[in-house]
Amino acid sequence: MSAPVIEVTKIVKRYGERTVLREISFEIAAGQAVALVGPSGGGKSTMLRCMIGLEPFEGGSVRVADAHLAPGTLRKNAAPLKVLHAQAGMVFQQWHLFPHRTALENVCEAPIHVRGDAPEKARARASELLAKVGLSHRESAMPRSMSGGEQQRCAIARALAMDPKVLFMDEPTSALDPQRVGDLVELLDQLTEEAKLTLVIVTHEMRFAEKLCDRALVLYEGNVIEDGAPGEVLASPKDSRTRAFLGLED
Ligand SMILES: Nc1ncnc2c1ncn2[C@@H]1O[C@H](COP(=O)(O)OP(=O)(O)O)[C@@H](O)[C@H]1O
Ligand SMILES: [Mg+2]
Repeated sequence: MSAPVIEVTKIVKRYGERTVLREISFEIAAGQAVALVGPSGGGKSTMLRCMIGLEPFEGGSVRVADAHLAPGTLRKNAAPLKVLHAQAGMVFQQWHLFPHRTALENVCEAPIHVRGDAPEKARARASELLAKVGLSHRESAMPRSMSGGEQQRCAIARALAMDPKVLFMDEPTSALDPQRVGDLVELLDQLTEEAKLTLVIVTHEMRFAEKLCDRALVLYEGNVIEDGAPGEVLASPKDSRTRAFLGLED
């Protein structure tokens, strides 16, 4: 197994009195595709937001590539966040494209304004990336005129434009018709192979996780209750709560 690109150590996250992540620890090897699965409210999105520096946490630590996050990091020091955002991309559930920019401008924005790439170079690369995700014909489209699937693919191209080591996605199947889910699996498979990306995907759909991922972590009430190949978790879950989540008889 290659060296871990992500290390989460005893992370604790609270909202007020409520503990949402309870000393969770795991490592993710470079190149792995990992699904965070589990029932709604189990802490999946919170885990993702803590890993990408969007949410402070109360205990433990997170390392993503060369970025180290700990309690207080976000408040005290922006440097680890800069490192993190140079090495990790995020595709949000609602994509969060810039509404007044075209698809192409969305993809060039960070390379030009964050990394300082020359505009011509950034536009050429953005054009290549949009072609990769099947959006060549939509370069000058505004987000509001794009379908959900198109906005998602544009958001993927935008994340890849910064050449991340890790790509995080929250519920990528939630806005897709079932027949489009296979296309997304194919696209992500192809992209991760080409770019040697590590993928961390939040999903409540175990079948999707099985198609795309090498590994599934089941989060339940702030604990990891299962960690294994998705096929194995599906076929023989160890924990009765996983069986319930999967709709299996106990
Ligand atoms: N901003 C917030 N303020 C207070 N509670 C929150 C907030 N975000 C999430 N929670 C709570 O944290 C728990 C985990 O939520 P979440 O991470 O969104 O779960 P999942 O993504 O697995 O559905 C839920 O009980 C949710 O209500
Ligand atoms: Mg969620």
